Amino acid sequence: MSTAIQPIALVTGATSGIGKVTARELARQGYHVVLLARNADKAAHTRQELQAAVGLGHRVDVLLCDLSDLSQVGRAAQEFNQRYARLDVLVNNAGLVFGAERETSVNGHEMTFATNHLGPFLLTSLLLEKLQQSPAARIVNVASMAYQFAKPDFTDLDATRRYSPMRAYANSKLFNIMFTQELARQLRERGILRITTNSLHPGVVASNFGSNSTWFTRAFYKMAAPFMTSSEDGAQTSIYLASAPEVAQTSGGYFVKKRPEAVKSAFTTSENAQRLWQESERMAGQPFFAA
Ligand SMILES: NC(=O)c1ccc[n+]([C@@H]2O[C@H](COP(=O)([O-])OP(=O)(O)OC[C@H]3O[C@@H](n4cnc5c(N)ncnc54)[C@H](OP(=O)(O)O)[C@@H]3O)[C@@H](O)[C@H]2O)c1
Repeated sequence: MSTAIQPIALVTGATSGIGKVTARELARQGYHVVLLARNADKAAHTRQELQAAVGLGHRVDVLLCDLSDLSQVGRAAQEFNQRYARLDVLVNNAGLVFGAERETSVNGHEMTFATNHLGPFLLTSLLLEKLQQSPAARIVNVASMAYQFAKPDFTDLDATRRYSPMRAYANSKLFNIMFTQELARQLRERGILRITTNSLHPGVVASNFGSNSTWFTRAFYKMAAPFMTSSEDGAQTSIYLASAPEVAQTSGGYFVKKRPEAVKSAFTTSENAQRLWQESERMAGQPFFAA
């Protein structure tokens, strides 16, 4: 890449699996990469590893943040906004499936919902001004085909009445897709045409995924690992959506293996997308678009 100003890419969940490969490849393409991570030691180790892989001419920084904690998201966004002039690519990649017992975040939200949807929702909102400083910014949201098993209940987004790890995960991944669709619509409606957003399913990937979950999920992922896609392959659609010229103008899509796919869910109506948006704003404690 030969632009005078080095474009900046922020990748969440970059200490492992798909996110680590995405960050490394964007650095190789010439992006100044910022790794958002919750674990300082792991982040420092990953930064060294990526720096060694891509060479000293490429800049790799760390931004510490636990996405399940809304005040940490606020602090991290503030730090980013102070340190950097603009943001060209935001990859909301971090995500996980939790265990059999329902857990809550420091803000009292169910952990899967807090980590996979609410934290990234707030982060994206707080970085919007820096995305608008880019001549052509992209927001990539890593969802999953597990969205097809979602059964969301707007009266119980925190799963206080009914919790299962896979249902909470599937719901959060459907929300990633609905967030992408609604964000694309709202950006267009507001005339913000220089920011695009797309979501994707990375494949069934042998990463660290499932390690926080039930013994059954862990055992399943361990046994099935030889038949799964590698993190190298799993990252390809994220990298494509973050950087390929042919999707520079595409927004609101859901991609699998670098191809757009229809979202097969009766839940993705515009009423539900707006309801999710409003509930997310209420829980995040602020409107998505600054007044
Ligand atoms: N693997 C699959 O088969 C598969 C299939 C469909 C979709 N996906 C999606 O792909 C994305 C990446 O998953 P992966 O397979 O690469 O899993 P992974 O190897 O477990 O990586 C997940 C990353 O998210 C980070 N993370 C988790 N909770 C966080 C939090 N509260 N704050 C900040 N970072 C946090 C992890 O940090 P630590 O290193 O500190 O744990 C790690 O870097 C996820 O969104 C997942 O839902 C994966």
